[in-house]
Amino acid sequence: MKKVILAYSGGLDTSCCVVWLKEQGFKVITYTADLGQGINFAQLKKKAKDCGVSKAYVQGLKDKFLKHFVFPTLRAGAIYEAKYPLATALGRPLIAEGLVEIAHKEGAGYIAHGCTGKGNDQVRIEVSVAALDKKIKTIAPLREWDLKTREEEIKYAKKHQIQVSATKKSPYSTDLNLWGRSIECGVLENPYHEPPEEIYELTENPLKCPNKATYVTIEFAEGVPVKLNGKAQGAVALISKLNKIAGACGVGRIDMVENRLVGIKSREIYEAPAAIVLYLAHRELEDLVLDRETAQFKRIVAEKYSQLVYNGLWHTSLKSALDKFVQVTQKNVTGVVKMKLYKGSCVCVGRKSPFSLYKKELATYEKGDKFDASAASGFIKIWGLPYNS
Ligand code: ARG
Repeated sequence: MKKVILAYSGGLDTSCCVVWLKEQGFKVITYTADLGQGINFAQLKKKAKDCGVSKAYVQGLKDKFLKHFVFPTLRAGAIYEAKYPLATALGRPLIAEGLVEIAHKEGAGYIAHGCTGKGNDQVRIEVSVAALDKKIKTIAPLREWDLKTREEEIKYAKKHQIQVSATKKSPYSTDLNLWGRSIECGVLENPYHEPPEEIYELTENPLKCPNKATYVTIEFAEGVPVKLNGKAQGAVALISKLNKIAGACGVGRIDMVENRLVGIKSREIYEAPAAIVLYLAHRELEDLVLDRETAQFKRIVAEKYSQLVYNGLWHTSLKSALDKFVQVTQKNVTGVVKMKLYKGSCVCVGRKSPFSLYKKELATYEKGDKFDASAASGFIKIWGLPYNS
């Protein structure tokens, strides 16, 4: 019998996928990666079994997700279209790795997913699977079946004794992991409509935040956050705590119209409290320790890196090459950054590093100035030479 590994979230779509794949004659094994989506995995496994799968895998990958996917992207400074810290996008290549690993272990020739036919995620998963093992075939039931609406899916599920949660499903489509939450659909499809307060889960309404500022310090070692408020901790603990602290200050809400790879614009809301604090803090530390040429060139690399991640090109040689460049630039990105959080805003108010290139004796306008201002006139003469009339 043909075997398929299905990326399974426990939701209605992927539960219907199980039944549909069985109808197509497959033995179905589900695979779920725990990236910090905060669901009950015992219940998820039971649900998968109730849908009739032969095996249900759950892999705890939070640490790997942060260390091998999130932190390299943070170090690169990559943020899609200058706004989106890529939480959903970064999860997909890792899920693809897990799917391929289980497919090999189980001797399965097929991988299936529950992505729709007009999003980025189908591209990310399928491109990564093919890059890892081109012999594996992918199936996207949502592109193939003729269940047009959610109601039709519910009817189909009920007909096949799949339990559909009784609570009225929210009109939004969401995705959550440790690096952030994505929200789309419903009233958000009108880009002029202000997001209703009810969509937010990780961030407090800035209007309701404390009337005094919260300070956090982040210590980086070679571009990786290692201490929060002076306390060393593992990646998962650090990000979880920072999400709570910054989220409580209303930091991390992003409202954007983005360009999807498949050619359409979509209105997305993101919540990424820890990511926003860390991107700003990391950038501030780089401003202190990187020389001008490296810092400016790195912004070009960051832009490209963000596009590679967004467009599903994680498992490519260009991405590995850019990682090598970033690696070299991060050698001195070690130090402490002080951030001030207040009613949705997040600003840097201090930074220090043993590798700081800031030289007070050159910058100062006070006593002790060592800058040779007399050399400036010769420099300016030659610098401006090409433009003299
Ligand atoms: N637009 C984002 C991306 O492509 C997020 C998509 C996540 N899905 C969702 N259900 N909101 O990375």
